[in-house]
Amino acid sequence: MPAETLASLLGWGRGRLIQARIETAQLDARLLLQHATDSDHATLIGRPDTVVADAAAARYRDMIMRRTRHEPVSRIIGRREFYGRDFALSPATLDPRPDTETLVAAALDALRQHPAPHILDLGTGTGAIAITLLAELPGARAMATDVSLEALETAAGNARKHCVVDRMEFVQSFWFDAVTGCFDLIISNPPYLSAGDIESLDPEVKDWDPRRALEGGPDGLDCYRAIAKGAPHHLLPAGLVVVEIGSGRGTQVAEIFAEYGFELGAAHRDLAGHVRCLVFRPRKNGGWKRP
Ligand SMILES: C[S@@+](CC[C@H](N)C(=O)[O-])C[C@H]1O[C@@H](n2cnc3c(N)ncnc32)[C@H](O)[C@@H]1O
Repeated sequence: MPAETLASLLGWGRGRLIQARIETAQLDARLLLQHATDSDHATLIGRPDTVVADAAAARYRDMIMRRTRHEPVSRIIGRREFYGRDFALSPATLDPRPDTETLVAAALDALRQHPAPHILDLGTGTGAIAITLLAELPGARAMATDVSLEALETAAGNARKHCVVDRMEFVQSFWFDAVTGCFDLIISNPPYLSAGDIESLDPEVKDWDPRRALEGGPDGLDCYRAIAKGAPHHLLPAGLVVVEIGSGRGTQVAEIFAEYGFELGAAHRDLAGHVRCLVFRPRKNGGWKRP
């Protein structure tokens, strides 16, 4: 049998993915080949006749077969880039989405002038939000919470990798239950889909992201109720709450926060033009009380 080269493996992988109706066949085949052979895009283009060792070729074939069963590339390679940094994933964590970068950008905007903000990231998953904020804001500290201990372990590994672990605290908590202290910024990308929404998702999401990272109760809004209710007890007077929302949910989420004395400070759109992030502040003279 002739030796496998980068080009022959790429062609084979792309063909298998096209047969499996994977829309991003070319891109996915390339990313998996780069990962399996520990090479980069420039090598694939510039030296396509490079012979690939049997073990790496076998790894690649196995990865392609997983992708034909709609396992996302990020799950197969075990990591995802977020805001220019690499984050390890685990079965307990959501695969961080580019939409969530909107949230990070909004928080950075709000905190740039603050010399040493204290941040609470509720439902941290891989830690993508909190770790990115700490990496961008050298004076900041953060508490990262999740109901999943396994997710917190993954987040702690990511924090070590990005050299921010010394400024982070990890707390297993059902929303605010185990949270102590007050914060300048409370940020969250909570689960916000209803069970019905989840059934209509692509298999890449439905079958691979953990259910408890997705499902937000019968109407998808339960987590906002919990966050809005708890936030007044843990927010400093000039603090802000920043949350990610599902498409078209802005009015309902703003109404929930209004019930607990917050007013909408800003709304930010994602790259597709959907309002993805809402920023709330305590309403002046609005009955917002800290205990
Ligand atoms: C949509 S994911 C967001 C993960 C990460 N922050 C991100 O943006 O990629 C929601 C996260 O909330 C966590 N979660 C779900 N219910 C929770 C609860 N009651 N208390 C705390 N965290 C919860 C999930 O385990 C999951 O990590």
